[in-house]
Amino acid sequence: MNKLIFRVVVLALSLTTMFTTSLRADEGMWLLQLMKEQHSIELMQAAGLKLDANELYNPHGTSLKDAVGIFGNGCTGEIISDAGLILTNHHCGFSAIQQHSSVEHDYLTNGFWSKNRSEELSSPGLSFTYVDKIVDITEQVNNDILEGNVSEAAAMGSKYLAKVADKMKANSEYKGKSYIRVLALPFYAGNKTYLFYLKVYNDIRMVAAPPQSVGKFGGETDNWMWPRHTGDFSMFRIYADKEGNPAPYSVDNVPLKTKKHLTINIGGIKDGDYAMVMGFPGSTERYLTASEISELMDAVNTPRITIRTAYLNCLHEFMSKSDKTRIQYATKYAHSSNYWKNAIGMNKAIVKNKVLDTKLAIQKRFQAFAATAQDPLYQDVIKNIDANVELSSDLMYQYTALTESFFRPIEFLAPISLYKDMIKALKSKDKKKIKQLKQDFLESFDGIYNKDYDSAVDRKVAATLYPVYTDLIPADKRPSFFKEITEKYNDRYDLFIDAVYDHSIMSSKKNLNAFLARPSVESLENDPQAIFTNSIVNKLQELKKARIPLADKLAMYHKTYIRGLGEMNTAEPNYPDANFTMRLTYGNVKSYNPKDGVHYNYYTTQKGILEKEDNTSEEFVVPAKLHDMLVARDFGPYAMEDGNLPVCFLTTNDITGGNSGSPVMNSRGELIGCAFDGNWESLSGDIHFDDQLQRCICLDIRYMLFILDKFGGCHHLVEEMTIVK
Ligand code: ARG
Repeated sequence: MNKLIFRVVVLALSLTTMFTTSLRADEGMWLLQLMKEQHSIELMQAAGLKLDANELYNPHGTSLKDAVGIFGNGCTGEIISDAGLILTNHHCGFSAIQQHSSVEHDYLTNGFWSKNRSEELSSPGLSFTYVDKIVDITEQVNNDILEGNVSEAAAMGSKYLAKVADKMKANSEYKGKSYIRVLALPFYAGNKTYLFYLKVYNDIRMVAAPPQSVGKFGGETDNWMWPRHTGDFSMFRIYADKEGNPAPYSVDNVPLKTKKHLTINIGGIKDGDYAMVMGFPGSTERYLTASEISELMDAVNTPRITIRTAYLNCLHEFMSKSDKTRIQYATKYAHSSNYWKNAIGMNKAIVKNKVLDTKLAIQKRFQAFAATAQDPLYQDVIKNIDANVELSSDLMYQYTALTESFFRPIEFLAPISLYKDMIKALKSKDKKKIKQLKQDFLESFDGIYNKDYDSAVDRKVAATLYPVYTDLIPADKRPSFFKEITEKYNDRYDLFIDAVYDHSIMSSKKNLNAFLARPSVESLENDPQAIFTNSIVNKLQELKKARIPLADKLAMYHKTYIRGLGEMNTAEPNYPDANFTMRLTYGNVKSYNPKDGVHYNYYTTQKGILEKEDNTSEEFVVPAKLHDMLVARDFGPYAMEDGNLPVCFLTTNDITGGNSGSPVMNSRGELIGCAFDGNWESLSGDIHFDDQLQRCICLDIRYMLFILDKFGGCHHLVEEMTIVK
């Protein structure tokens, strides 16, 4: 048998597993389209699910999956009314809330509660994406490999997959529909390929958001931690044209009549209840070797922690002094701090949970299995991965340091392609082109000096991170502008940074106008900002280029290793790493013991909000109105039987970033919560799921309703929903 065909058969066998109920439920981000084949549906039913497979996912009709979609670019949202109402996290709506905020209308601080549909705020740039159809194209990709149309490594690459996807769309019922995005993606490290037809709605309007003191209560201190008391939700609405198709924003658009929305259940939850989460986990690396995990710790997390600590401190200093800057930098700060803390927690958890030992034990088992397996590639695959890591670690370290110090945090980077085009046009004296490029320079200038940009902050960030970078990276590995500093600025980097921010074409409107009045090749070539940017970009490209051959090889090794692991573990169904495609994870509502002698209850209540309340700390302020309501205990239908108000709860569901905002559902598929975080003790979860410790932190739907209805005064929105008890 042809080797590849043999491997495909092996994989198919290891995906289609025997049905054994003895398996533990919690780990696994299951593909909806494989539920029947893998028998995961039977496992879910054995765990308590009261629905059948078609009610979860039905390629030929409506199912729960039609009430769940991608919110924005990196979160999940669910539909909770027949008029396109979306529930997601506050931290997912954060940048939209921030975009609408100003010192006069500070929705971050005060919240936003639309009182009718005309008050809903159009949020340009935001989208909601439905998965319309999923197609298995593995066979087609394998045929392309067999026929020599594409190499096995390239068949996992975005270039080839984009071509396949476009061709498929052109030959499908979606042909010509511009609002349908088509995406082909590798699964199981390239052992399977699926194609997704995605329906993208772009007229999304902000409907409701609690103040940060609710939506982000606990701030960075509580982030990634339990016990939690955060009302992490916000609400948006999908608008569409009269036919219900996606359309750009228009006053004529109407709320989308949604074909499926989730029923909300306020009957309450108990320890051990069945719970499942449907959503879009972004990325996991559950099949890394021990050497790769060490690389992740040392070459990514460690430099990231060092650099972001300096960056965040710098931002915080400015933000604490001015409301304008606080609002301008809120999203940038939140983005950076979230994975700063994650990196700290992950490195600690890897050690504490002995993840390296676990992986080494798996590798040992694999090595024994490889000795008897038919595929000869298994024998050396781990050794090959280790050798690859040896070569890539330093490149990875340099890449992290460069991106984290300069490329990501510094916003004042020159539009270098524009500079290049202008140089070309000036040299060829192309008057028409020069005229057009002048216009582009003006637009680019406005792009840099946008509503959320403060040049003084940016300059200080550059000055702060420069020495942090030089501490991490030796002189011979730095970008070329360092040489410039030595030669032209007498090693005074502060003078170089001042030159970038004061004497570049884009440094001020005055400088730009002076340049546009007499544009010259010389001023473009000597522009400090362009020198700075080019130097960084060149270094990045140099590092990327050095990593490409290693990355290609690694992709092939992983394809082999994961196929081998599947073959070794045929008794268990296995799931592919997360790749921001729709998954289902099921488990239970459950408490946990984070350390010896400590028990964490599975839910929190309003009592904890009042315990944590500290109006002198920006992270633990409780709005006076909310304080009074919590003390008065008038929680109406949202109270638990004992009269307390539930706030957050825990499940054993297997989630990661991207799942933020995902619906947490009971055994009947009714909404009981909204997933928003992972817990500190299992921050190693993206690389290894810990049965004892891993928890999903969820907002209790009753707290969401209480805040929306009683605190926000949006009873009209509650009326739109379908609520049962
Ligand atoms: N850790 C959460 C997640 O990644 C984000 C929480 C945002 N809140 C915050 N305080 N930064 O899904």
